[in-house]
Amino acid sequence: MLFQLSEEQLMIRQAARDFAEHELKPGVIERDEKQKFPAEQVAKLGELGFLGMMVSEQYGGSGLDALSYVLVMEELSKIDASASVVVSVNNSLVCYGLEAYGSEFQKEKYLVPLASGQQIGAFCLSEPEAGSDATSQHTTAEDKGDYYLLNGTKNWITNGGTASTYLVIAQTHPELKHKGINAFIVEKGMEGFSVGPKENKMGIRGSDTHSLMFDDVKVPKENRIGEDGFGFKFAMKTLEGGRIGIAAQALGIAAGAYELALAYAKQRKSFGKPISDHQVIAFKLADMATQIEAARMLVYKAAWLKDQGLSYTLAGSMAKLYASKVAMDVTVEAVQVHGGYGFVKEYHVERLMRDAKITQIYEGTSEIQQLVISREILR
Ligand code: CAA
Repeated sequence: MLFQLSEEQLMIRQAARDFAEHELKPGVIERDEKQKFPAEQVAKLGELGFLGMMVSEQYGGSGLDALSYVLVMEELSKIDASASVVVSVNNSLVCYGLEAYGSEFQKEKYLVPLASGQQIGAFCLSEPEAGSDATSQHTTAEDKGDYYLLNGTKNWITNGGTASTYLVIAQTHPELKHKGINAFIVEKGMEGFSVGPKENKMGIRGSDTHSLMFDDVKVPKENRIGEDGFGFKFAMKTLEGGRIGIAAQALGIAAGAYELALAYAKQRKSFGKPISDHQVIAFKLADMATQIEAARMLVYKAAWLKDQGLSYTLAGSMAKLYASKVAMDVTVEAVQVHGGYGFVKEYHVERLMRDAKITQIYEGTSEIQQLVISREILR
């Protein structure tokens, strides 16, 4: 067992660390406050090849492994989870889904611009009445011969307003339940497709989350992904990788808050000495560091399994369940270590605390991860 990153992985991690420090940190507080999408920063992430990291070079990607991807997610999320969620969704849900299951036509037309960072994509599964219960799709895709007629509403869609390409899950044969679901590629601008107002969120406020409405949208048949009825499996397989990305995001949020708390504890004095010299603070830091390292091991292992071509269903859900809890626990403690300063925006930790919460909700709540894990271990 080798706990060592390759030269290339170390370089990629450093590049992401530099990017986060120099390109994401300036303005991150303002973007959070004004709910401003990090458009310029995302464009640069695309130029660096971070939006299609695991896609083969043939389709415009960087051809890297999943471990490199989680290293990048971790570093970006230490500073700006609103930017890193764009990286996560584009890489794990959209590009992966298209490369693994799309037709040659779909890869050439849609994957290339997405993987090379010229466009961003969105993954549209959740609905007003179908979040955790993903088989209950109310959005319908009626087969009309050479096209499908799409009707319905999707909720809480990351990149909802800024994406150009949307992977939309919809029900074609209700009598077949989940076996009648399909996944479609929908382009922004298709007639009948509209985007609702941006959600006003507690955390990841810079990210672009919208409802989407489909009103008799004609989707060409060639835009269906896979065989008729493959949509639910497509969503599940794609989300498995997505969970590793969000686990890495949670890890990064925790690590970012911990690094701030550590630095603050060394320089802030009380009762005549740095607060890190008080055991009550030193022990908090010890617990935070230990939890983060344990989360890191789970996240890296899940990515490693993916790179080996082995099953990562269990490992990915464990990584997400645990890392997102660590993100919550550590960010709350980081605010506590900062005392009153932790409660004001300039010190960054309150934002990280708010951002942490979504990692227990999106791409499957913690309870969904417990369901997946329990099914795997009881099988
Ligand atoms: N891989 C392949 N197939 C899978 C699978 C997997 N990981 N998980 C389930 N399936 C298959 C099953 O084998 C079954 O197929 P068969 O009938 O052919 O055997 C079918 O899917 C139905 O599975 P279940 O009976 O297990 O379905 P269920 O309803 O009991 O539970 C669930 C499924 C795990 C709860 C699922 O609904 C789920 O993951 N829900 C959470 C959805 C989610 O993560 N939503 C997040 C939205 S996306 C998002 O947040 C993106 C963003 O913007 C950031």
